[in-house]
Amino acid sequence: MTIHISAKQEDIADTVLMPGDPYRAKWAAETFLTNVKLVNEVRGMLGFTGIWNGNSVTIQGSGMGMPSLSIYANELIKDYGVKTLIRIGSCGGMQPYVGIRDIILAMTATTINSPSSSIFNEINFAPCADYGLLTAAVLAARAKRAKIHVGGIYSSDIFYSERSDLDDQMVRHGILGVEMEAAELYTLAARYGRRALAVLTVSDHLQTGAALPPNDREKTFAEMVEIALEAAFEKE
Ligand code: HPA
Repeated sequence: MTIHISAKQEDIADTVLMPGDPYRAKWAAETFLTNVKLVNEVRGMLGFTGIWNGNSVTIQGSGMGMPSLSIYANELIKDYGVKTLIRIGSCGGMQPYVGIRDIILAMTATTINSPSSSIFNEINFAPCADYGLLTAAVLAARAKRAKIHVGGIYSSDIFYSERSDLDDQMVRHGILGVEMEAAELYTLAARYGRRALAVLTVSDHLQTGAALPPNDREKTFAEMVEIALEAAFEKE
């Protein structure tokens, strides 16, 4: 039990999927896991533990933005000893060839600022995904013929940005999409020697203004959850 997670020690699995939205955690747990148990509802940030293919999995909401994710990831890592953390979420597409519904596997996550920034002083740390998880996710995605892109993303603090020039620089440097959590997740995983990956569905596009219709969301998000689960339990 921690300040923000009321689960018993044994009720959190070694592998945790982290959607931003707590209701998406509920949907994913009820859709993909068996023996589902609600393990956290502090502040409405729902967490569930169940079984997938014989493996114990927790799906815990992270909330929106790096400060929120950082609270849950710190407690999961340091208090519950979680070993594998996979963010499942949405992102805004940035390159013209990245389409709505495509899946982005975030190899790196560039950021201006994160809760960890202050400890690096003059260093620009490069947060990156766990290579084993990333390659397992690529194989899982290819097996189901999902349309994926593998590369860098931008973890921003600001959804309603007034600085479109920053987006322009990201696009110019090949960044695939923008979201608000992965850089802090990757940095914490690096600090504590854990595995992390972000599997993201493109829900809107910054250049074209296209957006995923609400009734398409479930099917598209399902593919992302399956890729995350298959990557987590891929036998090396
Ligand atoms: N910006 C930041 N985060 C996001 C976006 C976006 O456009 N779309 C989905 N998550």
